[in-house]
Amino acid sequence: MIDCVHGRRLVVAIDGPAGAGKSTIAGELARALGYVLLDTGALYRAVALAAQQQGVAWDDTEGVARLAVRLARADELRLEPAPHGVRVVLFGDDVGAAIRTAEMSMGASRVSAIPGVRAALLELQRATGRQGGVIAEGRDIGTVVFPSADVKFFVTASIEVRAERRCAELLARGERADLQSVRAEVIARDRQDSERSVAPLRHADDARLVDTSGRTVSDIVAELRRIVETAAR
Ligand code: DC
Repeated sequence: MIDCVHGRRLVVAIDGPAGAGKSTIAGELARALGYVLLDTGALYRAVALAAQQQGVAWDDTEGVARLAVRLARADELRLEPAPHGVRVVLFGDDVGAAIRTAEMSMGASRVSAIPGVRAALLELQRATGRQGGVIAEGRDIGTVVFPSADVKFFVTASIEVRAERRCAELLARGERADLQSVRAEVIARDRQDSERSVAPLRHADDARLVDTSGRTVSDIVAELRRIVETAAR
C-alpha cells in the first residue's frame, strides 16, 4: 500500500525472547508510525486460555491443534484494532487481562510448540500483514511468518534485565512474583521457545540486533522509527 506523505507502508518484523521489551517497543512504534500492531504472542496465549476453558490439556497435542484450527476458522479468535494496540477477542470476550498471567505465559509457550497450532495461526497472522503498515511482534516473524518483511529487528536484553522487567510487570498487575522464580521462568521459557523443533526463536540472518539493556524506550523507538521511515522512502 502506498502512502503519499510517509512513503510505502511496510511490514516490520520484531522478534526476540520474553521480557526483552519487544511488546512495549512494538506498541510505541506502531503508534508513532500509525501502523497496526500484530501481537502474535497474544494469539498463542489465547489458544492456551481457550484450551484451559474447554478442558483440553496443554500437552494434548492433537486436541489443542484441533481447537486452534476451529478458533481460527470460525473466527472465534480475533485481534481487533483498539486505541492502545489490539484487543484480543476469544469467543466474543475481550481476554486481554486473562491471557497476561504467568500461568498463561507458560501455557502459551507449551501450546506454541505444537506444529498444528502454529499452522492454524499462520494464515491469521499473514492476513493481517497483507495490506502492509503492520508491526508484527513474536518469535518467528522474520523467519517464518513474514520472511520477506521489509524491515526486521531482533530485540533482546540481558537475562537480569529481562527477569527484572517481567517481575515488575507482574507486580504492577497485582500478581505475586519474586525475582528468583521469575528469572527461572524466563530461562525455562527461553529454552522451550529456542529448542522446539518447529519455528524456534532464532535471530534471522537479515534482522538488525537491538539490545535494550540500559536504554530507554523512547530512545529505542526513535532509532527504530528512523530506520523504518528510511526504508519506506
Ligand atoms: O510474546 P509473548 O510472551 O506474549 O509470547 C507467549 C509465548 O508464545 C512465548 O513463550 C512463545 C510463544 N510465541 C511463539 O511461539 N511465536 C510467536 N510468534 C509469538 C509467541
